[in-house]
Amino acid sequence: MKIQIISLFPEMFAPVLETSMLWKAKDKGVVEYEYINLRTYGLGPRKTVDDTPYGGGDGMLLKPEPLFAAVEHAKIQDPEAFVYLMTPRGERLMQKRARELAQEGKGMIIICGRYEGYDERITTLVDRQVSIGDYVLTGGELPAMVLIDAVVRLIPGVLGGEKSAEIESFSHGDNLEFPQYTRPEDFRGMKVPEVLLSGNHAEIEKWRQAQSGSQKE
Ligand code: ADE
Repeated sequence: MKIQIISLFPEMFAPVLETSMLWKAKDKGVVEYEYINLRTYGLGPRKTVDDTPYGGGDGMLLKPEPLFAAVEHAKIQDPEAFVYLMTPRGERLMQKRARELAQEGKGMIIICGRYEGYDERITTLVDRQVSIGDYVLTGGELPAMVLIDAVVRLIPGVLGGEKSAEIESFSHGDNLEFPQYTRPEDFRGMKVPEVLLSGNHAEIEKWRQAQSGSQKE
């Protein structure tokens, strides 16, 4: 899966995507990351990427021309890719959607919004607007990393054997994780729940189901 990220701060990504599981996915050849600096497509000698809003108002908006040029460049590299725009106005990212994207395996072109906003015309380029929650961050970079992490870990082959992904997708549906314990059995008086020591797999399964928070669709 080719993941192309369009951002004014592409240097934010390598420390996260080139570490741990996300790096392993790349090392195995399962994913490929490409960082596209929006500034490259800026206008004029100053490589301008933003401008004041029509109708007045505070702040600057990302201009359409550089974003269109950047997405067009990314589309040439991967014509089938889906285009995502990270925005607090988007559809809330859920585990179910992350799983669908991982299973589809289509390339991703991710636009990171910045500053006070963007010219609305860029949404005509976008297949899906994605929010990671009802709060406003300074830009789409952290949300893009969250989206990538949520999807890439579910791509078959990434978690090391299919086991973990299988456990999540089939045994526990869309339930969130249950609490887990490792040795020692008693740590500073905090004991591992009896049921987990019982060896009774049916009971353990029942307990885990009961402990998992169900996720709304
Ligand atoms: N950009 C700023 N805040 C965001 C959010 N909550 N989700 C996605 N993109 C964002």
